[in-house]
Amino acid sequence: MYEDIPAEKESSNSIEREDILRAQQFLKDTYNKELRENGKVTPELVKENTDHAERVAENARWIAENEFLDINKLELAAICHDCGKLRSAHPGGIDTFEHHITGARMTYEFLRDLGKSPALSEEIRDMIMAHSAIPFIKRWADENEVGLPEPTTPEEFALRDADLLDQIDIWGFKKIIEIRQMPDGDFYAQDGGNIRKAMASAEQSAKEAKEQLHTETAKKIAASYEKRWQKLVDALRDAEVTSIEEFREVFQKILSQSLDKN
Ligand SMILES: [Fe+2]
Repeated sequence: MYEDIPAEKESSNSIEREDILRAQQFLKDTYNKELRENGKVTPELVKENTDHAERVAENARWIAENEFLDINKLELAAICHDCGKLRSAHPGGIDTFEHHITGARMTYEFLRDLGKSPALSEEIRDMIMAHSAIPFIKRWADENEVGLPEPTTPEEFALRDADLLDQIDIWGFKKIIEIRQMPDGDFYAQDGGNIRKAMASAEQSAKEAKEQLHTETAKKIAASYEKRWQKLVDALRDAEVTSIEEFREVFQKILSQSLDKN
């Protein structure tokens, strides 16, 4: 008796390969919108954060595959995890401490618009909500008496691990330095523009990241990243780097050495 009433389109409970491409486009559009707002977001910031999302997505794929989790779901969450980070109205163009909240909401809306089920959209939203529970942000949350959700599910731990791994990767290390050395940024003011302080901060993040890894797969990946990371840190110390240009030179040297070996 209800034949004339069109059935409501069923929402999908899975992430497909084409959704990965849509998520990449969503991230690009989101960052470009902030760039166009003529605020503090610069093309350099967009590039650093887009590259970071790509590396985290690759880490997420490896972890998901080896921990028997849904690869597409992890990869999509990784692409979107920092979509709330670049904010034109925010001082310095970066929201470090609350971007997980904005990003979780934006990603939830993106997924619902794509026709994903509420349950799947909520699951990915919660993964993004829990990715910021890292020492650097926890210290801020404690000082400001703000709650910070911790990962509880295998997928939530896997996403945070994928993100943490980037801090042990030389490219992620470089990202922290480049961002802390951007003269208009908040971190530049915090460091007084001193690159040694930026390097000390990136070094501390890498050490804390290693301690916090949860999955066995991420711990294995970290061991391989760490060798190249340590080489870079040692070379920077030996070179007594005092400027971003000198930092980039040492970075390129370490990069070409490791490429020669492969
Ligand atoms: Fe993040």
